[in-house]
Amino acid sequence: MRDRWMIIFILLLTGSFLLTVVSAEMPTVKSEKYQVPSEYPPHELGEIVRLGRAIVEQTNVHPLSKEYVGNSLTCSSCHLKAGTDLRAATFLGIATAYPAWSPREKRVITLEDRVLNCFMRSQNGIRPPLGSKVSTAITAYITWLSSGNTIRMNHEKPLGPNHVRPLKIRTELANAKRGATLFSNQCADCHGSEGTGSEAGPPVWGENSYNTGAGMSHNDKLAAWLKVAMPPDETNLSEQDALDIAAYVNSHGRPEFVLEEHLPEAKQRGVYGW
Ligand code: HEC
Ligand code: HEC
Repeated sequence: MRDRWMIIFILLLTGSFLLTVVSAEMPTVKSEKYQVPSEYPPHELGEIVRLGRAIVEQTNVHPLSKEYVGNSLTCSSCHLKAGTDLRAATFLGIATAYPAWSPREKRVITLEDRVLNCFMRSQNGIRPPLGSKVSTAITAYITWLSSGNTIRMNHEKPLGPNHVRPLKIRTELANAKRGATLFSNQCADCHGSEGTGSEAGPPVWGENSYNTGAGMSHNDKLAAWLKVAMPPDETNLSEQDALDIAAYVNSHGRPEFVLEEHLPEAKQRGVYGW
């Protein structure tokens, strides 16, 4: 009887030892949390991060950024809630993806480059100088939003881990005519039936909108974003509806993108010190 208990005891001991070994070899993968850090960094760094957030929310009117903006949009018009909305082109976690390969530029770009390129295209403006205060502040704010996240540089495209997922529907299936009706029913109240905006929403086409170099000027990209971002607070468009509306929105005129017109003068391309 005593022997039998002894055997059971030894078996249990060996079992738990084996379990420990196995679990040590297969560490559980911790899922990443993408969230706004609870505190700003102290001192001057915190000031710059706060300034970056203010510029992201008031890009077209902020004293530091307005001279570089050529439309009535802010970064926050598309990167909803200053980029903290996890679904709609979020800034959360994106600093971990840079430097990243950019198929468009055919080179590896930094987060700062990516930020500045949005001024030329989505903001239809001029690229602020590298190292300038406006550029450093926005980049500091976006980097702060990746606090605690693991670096995973992206060797395929300049996009972070939570980027807007492409739709499954084929872009050729877009029906702009159908999109026109959907637009007047679901979008025109805020963006105006002429697409030029209202108190309740920014312009979606015309002179004060993003230009033809912006990601949003491609129907597939705009549709994927609409699906997760519009109408605000009740995003429930089907893939077909999102695509049709995107085709309708992008069938209107908007500023033509010519790269040279959006670059600063050579001596303004970078600065040392503010
Ligand atoms: C007209 C809409 C629009 C505006 C305005 C805009 N962006 Fe973007 N931006 C986009 C879209 C769409 C993407 C692609 C995002 C995705 O696929 O998740 C993007 C991508 C980015 C990325 C890369 C995101 C990643 O996942 O790596 C950065 C950084 C960025 N924008 C910064 C800015 C900044 C800073 C401003 C303001 C100066 C700005 N953007 C203004 C639409 C816009
Ligand atoms: C209740 C008002 C409202 C409705 C309805 C609405 N939007 Fe918006 N939309 C906004 C606001 C506000 C923003 C800017 C987000 C911000 O600043 O927080 C915006 C941003 C946008 C943008 C990016 C910025 C720009 O102007 O290019 C696009 C594109 C857009 N909306 C398209 C649409 C489409 C298409 C629909 C219909 C499916 C729609 N919206 C419905 C209020 C609305």
